[in-house]
Amino acid sequence: MNTPRAVKGMNDILPHEVGRWHRLEREFRKTVESYGFGEIRTPLVEPTELFTRSIGEATDIVEKEMYTFADKGEKSLTLRPEGTASCARAYLEHTIHAREAVTRWYYMGPMYRRERPAKGRYRQFHQAGCEVYGDHGPFVDAEVIDMVVSFLERVGVKDIRVLVNSLGGPETRARYRTALLDYLAPQREKLSADSQRRLETNPLRILDSKAPEDQAIAEGAPSILDFLSEEDRKHFDLLVGTLESLGTPFEIERRLVRGLDYYSRTLFEIQGRGGELGAQNALAGGGRYDAMIEELGGPSIPAFGFALGIERLLLAMSEEAPATEDRVVILAANDRARTEATVLARALRLADHRVETDLRPTASLKSQLRRADRSGARLVLILGEDELARGVVQWKRLDADKKGEVSRDALLGQLRALLDD
Ligand code: HAM
Repeated sequence: MNTPRAVKGMNDILPHEVGRWHRLEREFRKTVESYGFGEIRTPLVEPTELFTRSIGEATDIVEKEMYTFADKGEKSLTLRPEGTASCARAYLEHTIHAREAVTRWYYMGPMYRRERPAKGRYRQFHQAGCEVYGDHGPFVDAEVIDMVVSFLERVGVKDIRVLVNSLGGPETRARYRTALLDYLAPQREKLSADSQRRLETNPLRILDSKAPEDQAIAEGAPSILDFLSEEDRKHFDLLVGTLESLGTPFEIERRLVRGLDYYSRTLFEIQGRGGELGAQNALAGGGRYDAMIEELGGPSIPAFGFALGIERLLLAMSEEAPATEDRVVILAANDRARTEATVLARALRLADHRVETDLRPTASLKSQLRRADRSGARLVLILGEDELARGVVQWKRLDADKKGEVSRDALLGQLRALLDD
C-alpha cells in the first residue's frame, strides 16, 4: 500500500530545521516593531473576488495560480496567494481609517500559488510582509525599503541588489502603454506566444518576460521613467534622494514591472545572489498601491508595502555551524532513577531551563549518552544507582571536557553556572 505523501510543492518543516525559521521570524518582528508596525493575522481563505478585484484579472496569479474551490457549492473561496489583499480587506472591514490617520501592519505566514515547483518556488510558501496605509509621500517608501535592506543585513544575507522603479500614476501609465504598444506592435511576430497574448491584456508584463526572444525586444523599449507626469517625477526624485541620504544601496531598473496589477508609482524588488539561491532570486518585492483601497469600495487611501519570501531567504543565508543549545538532558540508570528524572526535570523546567529526559525503560546509560551527544544539548545529568543512594547527580558537559558531581539540593542553584562555565 502507498503511504500518504504531502501535496506537491508543499513542504514539511521538521524540528531540526525550524530553529532557522524561528530566528528569522524573531529578527523580523524585532526589526519591524522597532519601526512601529503591529502584527495582523488574517484568515488563510478569502472570498475569490477579493483577489480578482485587487490583484487583477490579467495577472499570472489570478489567471492560473490560485487554489479556488466552491464552499459546499455556495461561495467561491481561494487560499490566499499573498497578504496585501487580505490586509486591505481587513483594513476596510474594521474601518481602521476612521481610527487612525496612518496604519502600519505586518504579517507572517503561508501563501498558496499553483506554480511549477522548483528550488525556491513552492506551492505553499511563507511570506513576511508589511503594509502602510494613509501616507502618500515618497519618504515612507524610502524608509520601508531601507528597513528591508537593514533586516537582510541583520540576518546575514549578503550580496543583494535593490532595484527601484516608478510605474507612475494611472495617467502616466496610460500614456506609456500607448507608447509601448507603438513600439511592440510592429514586432509582434517576434514575441513569444505568451507575450503576444499579453499585448492585448497586460503589455507592461512583456518587459519582465523570461523568454530570450522577448528580452531582446524589451531591451530597446521606451522607459516609463521618460513618461512620468510632473507629480510622479517629483515623487520618484524624492524617493531616490531619501534613499541616497539613508545610504541605502540601490539601482534604478527602468524595466522592473512585477507581476501584480495593483502597483502605482514606487516599485522595488530585492534580488539575492548568494547561498544556494538559483534562478528564483527575488527575495522581496513591493511598492505603492494607492488605488486598491478605493477600488475595494473604501475611501481614497494611499498604501505602500512589501513581502519577503522566507524559503528564499533561508536559501540565500549561509548555513551557520549548529552551536550547542542551552539545553540539559537527564539520563537514568533504572526505573527508580527514571521516576526521579521526571521529578527533577519538572523542577528544572519550572525554573525556566530547557530539559529533556531519556525515559526509555530498556536503554542502557551508554546508549542514552550516545543519543544525548548527538542531540546538540550542552549538559547531561546522570542519575545512576550509586548517585541516587548518595543524593547526588553526576554532570558532564557535551561541548567541553568537563564533568563533576553536585548534590541534588545544590543542583538548581548551580545549574546556570554549569551550563555557562
Ligand atoms: P510577490 O513579489 O508576489 O509580492 O511576492 C513577494 C515574495 O514572495 C517574492 O519576492 C518571493 O521571495 C516570495 N515568493 C513569491 N512566490 C513564491 C513561491 N511560489 N515560492 C516561494 N517564494 C515565493 C507580493 O506577494 C506582494 N503582496 C508584496 C507587496 C506587499 N506589495 C505591496 N505590499
